[in-house]
Amino acid sequence: MSTTILVAYATRYGSTQEVAEHVAAVLLEAGHPVAIHPAGDVRSLEEFDAVVLGAPIYMGNWHRNARRFLSRHQTALTQRPVAVFALGPLERDEEQMREAIGQFEKILAKTPWLDPVDKEVFVGKFDPDKLTFPHNLLPLGDALPEGDNRDWEAIRGWAGELPARLQA
Ligand SMILES: Cc1cc2nc3c(=O)[nH]c(=O)nc-3n(C[C@H](O)[C@H](O)[C@H](O)COP(=O)(O)O)c2cc1C
Repeated sequence: MSTTILVAYATRYGSTQEVAEHVAAVLLEAGHPVAIHPAGDVRSLEEFDAVVLGAPIYMGNWHRNARRFLSRHQTALTQRPVAVFALGPLERDEEQMREAIGQFEKILAKTPWLDPVDKEVFVGKFDPDKLTFPHNLLPLGDALPEGDNRDWEAIRGWAGELPARLQA
């Protein structure tokens, strides 16, 4: 039987939304009914058998709407398989990836009741010209590498493994 999956995402500048859309497309191709929604718009998880939640890391925190999603739907999330992903590091660099994974582990440790069937960190995107308040006041231009280094192959690969994990 196919699993009805919700892909919920939070985003500030759109890069996580595009990754969520990609994940949803892979799940759909695998034959699963999929709905994709901003995490903040989801009122109930009743119609879904499994959930994928993705959001970017900002200053060591997961996007606020992802954190709110977890607290709002805590009970329902303990009753279904959940997979989570974060966008963060801006280059395909081992050290940056290790750091972001460490941040994501700390983030997830704040919700010990959540036992994801899978968790992953993907490389993100940074466009200094698109920053809005208060990010546009930060001296980030030099601190963060500009560019889109998202690894679509890695994202596709992870999404391809999800149906088996979400059914387990
Ligand atoms: C102000 C700012 C702070 C950030 N802080 C972190 C961070 O603490 N850890 C991390 O891994 N990535 C960090 N990033 C990178 C973002 O997570 C990355 O750009 C992501 O792709 C943004 O997702 P969005 O386009 O969906 O908003 C930061 C980016 C900005 C602009």
